[in-house]
Amino acid sequence: MYNFFKTRLRSSVLFIFLLGITFSQSVVAQEIIAVKTKSNALVLQVNEQKEVNTIYLGEKLKNDTEYSAISQQFSQGNDYTTIYNSSYTPAGSKNLLEPAINVTHSDGNTSLSLNYVSHKTTNIDNDISLTEIVLKDPVYNFEVTLFIKAFFNEDVIEQWTQIVNKEKGDVVLHKYASANLYFTGNNDFWLNQYHGDWAKEMKPEETHLTHGIKVLDSKLGTRANLFQPSVFMISLGKPASEDEGKVIFAGLEWSGNFRTDLEVDPLNNLRIISGINNFSSDYTLAENESLTTPKFWYTLSNEGKGKASRNLHDWGRKYKILDGNGSRLTLLNNWETTSFDFNEPKLKSLIGDAKELGVDLFLLDDGWFGNSYPRNGDNAGLGDWQINKKKLPNGIGTLIETAVENDVKFGIWIEPEMVNPDSDLYHEHPEWVIKQPERPEHYFRNQLVLDLSNPKVQDFVYNVVDDLFTKNPDLSYIKWDCNAVIYNAYAKHLKNKQSQLSVDYVKGLYAVLKRIRNKYPTVPMMLCSGGGGRVDYGALQYFTEFWPSDNTDPLERIYMQWEYSYFYPSVSISNHVTNWGKQPIKFKTDVAMMGKLGFDIVLDELNNDELKFCQEAIKSYNLLKNTIWQGTQFHLQDPWKNDAASLIFVDEKQNEAVMFTYLVNNRYGAGTTNPIVLKGLDSSKTYKVEEINIYPGTEAAVVTKEYSGDFLMKVGVNPNVNQYHTSIVLKITTVK
Ligand code: DGJ
Repeated sequence: MYNFFKTRLRSSVLFIFLLGITFSQSVVAQEIIAVKTKSNALVLQVNEQKEVNTIYLGEKLKNDTEYSAISQQFSQGNDYTTIYNSSYTPAGSKNLLEPAINVTHSDGNTSLSLNYVSHKTTNIDNDISLTEIVLKDPVYNFEVTLFIKAFFNEDVIEQWTQIVNKEKGDVVLHKYASANLYFTGNNDFWLNQYHGDWAKEMKPEETHLTHGIKVLDSKLGTRANLFQPSVFMISLGKPASEDEGKVIFAGLEWSGNFRTDLEVDPLNNLRIISGINNFSSDYTLAENESLTTPKFWYTLSNEGKGKASRNLHDWGRKYKILDGNGSRLTLLNNWETTSFDFNEPKLKSLIGDAKELGVDLFLLDDGWFGNSYPRNGDNAGLGDWQINKKKLPNGIGTLIETAVENDVKFGIWIEPEMVNPDSDLYHEHPEWVIKQPERPEHYFRNQLVLDLSNPKVQDFVYNVVDDLFTKNPDLSYIKWDCNAVIYNAYAKHLKNKQSQLSVDYVKGLYAVLKRIRNKYPTVPMMLCSGGGGRVDYGALQYFTEFWPSDNTDPLERIYMQWEYSYFYPSVSISNHVTNWGKQPIKFKTDVAMMGKLGFDIVLDELNNDELKFCQEAIKSYNLLKNTIWQGTQFHLQDPWKNDAASLIFVDEKQNEAVMFTYLVNNRYGAGTTNPIVLKGLDSSKTYKVEEINIYPGTEAAVVTKEYSGDFLMKVGVNPNVNQYHTSIVLKITTVK
């Protein structure tokens, strides 16, 4: 048994400590693997049975040597208690808990045990370290490597696994999670999860976790987040507030079916197992084949939810979202104003509107394609990506020319993963369509999903994009939509591997997006899925921004954008001013300005003041957008608990800030009766507080005045939001 101690010792890497621990019967060595970020530590330990367990996940200790004392603090209890905290729980041997991995070996045996083999930590750069822990079944030639990537400054960790079959024959994976975490510490655990539907995205619900397993999951295939996204928060001890409390934010980088098990165990600790949803998804590995699971990310804040969100914003912009630290294009979209009903003159006039408004780009939405089955509604044409000759007899080239003449860029909508039965594509390639051969077709928005596990379909989808760019080199933007879920999951191409469809679909999607990004690395693309049906950090590595919801009623949007803004930085959140909602255009614009601003309106329908307001607001936005997109975000007043929502973005040097406050309660007397205390400023600086986005012909609600940062962050400022001034934007700049 102790041979392994002699053989496995390797040159010590940073954060690894060898120590001897005295047990009642004999002296054994236990290896500690501590992965640290700026504030936190994840500590694993190899026990005398060579199992790797998680012994700590929390605020890091001041003294490194004390990590070795952690495991002594746990009662050894009965045999069973030693297995709760496995760092990757195998099924079918002595572990009887919800597994992270469950397999059938090549000989039909269903037991798995995973023992420590080796580990190493590589410092990728000053910020990132990667720890790899190799585990192996002592009986079978079956290996799992646990990957732990730590982003030091951002306090974010990503975990995933690589599962390798070295047996002589197929191994079937029944469950293959990305990560298996364990939280100890006499805690109550509070889960903040999200649910929704079309136009109802990101509705939060907070509950106290009780013993047993709570599962967050999706089985929808594409558009996986329609009812529930994979992101969640867990507060430790008590529900975290904005600036206080310990809270973990987490999610899966995967644009398909996911599953997260949250189990409060009999020791009152919390096990979290997250990964691809194994529902109906056995995955077969042939000899020497491997599966790399998607990354599970998490950040732990010891200073409330606001800090966790800022960790994620920094991490997302720097490492995940395409061009996260870059600029974005403001735009005018035509979906809400024309729907499918447009022609060349109408679009040219809208391009003129984009110029008049002062935005950067005109985005042509759905309806520009299909000839045998013209795309005049959502019931026909998907799959036939040829320009509709009736609506656009001169193609889109002439529209792009008009855009160029107007000094406006041009973007286009596509939904290349889908097909309408009324399309040439459906008739030419029925074998590309996901559907049960013996069952009636069942549609979601009159369409079916193409089988992206098939390389030929991948080529087709890639070529939709490539053709557009090849034929239209001045095309500057893509909105990539995905409106259907997968019903009747069956892919002809997968033959007897049908259970792999949901996994291979996402792999196929990512392969296409990767190819697109190899050829078109920087062109901005919006991630859309009938609204926010597919928002995750896996997809966002290929996209510059996402469409949170088709619901653009600004009151609804305040709540949605607020919740999204915990997980994603404002530079990635597209907000459009539309005809949804009855609020004045100022309110709509102010709400859209807290992210990536766009419009979907007809200028002719605006009066002079409204138009002037929009034009001036865009000018102001252009001056402040870097602070909004790249600045540090602080939530000041929660819309769920107050009459008004308020938040502020502060630039890195603390010289400029933008504060948005919106009335969310229309009852008598509602408003900001007290000052709102600001955050993120420099207390030693003096700031000028000035209202912007003042509607023509109206008085400012806030008098321009200078205050010290100290005053603003102790007393605050009252934006005077009330039923007469329903939204106020304040520009806060240092006085030279
Ligand atoms: C759903 C999207 O969310 C909308 O913005 C629009 O692009 C439509 N699809 C077009 O069909």
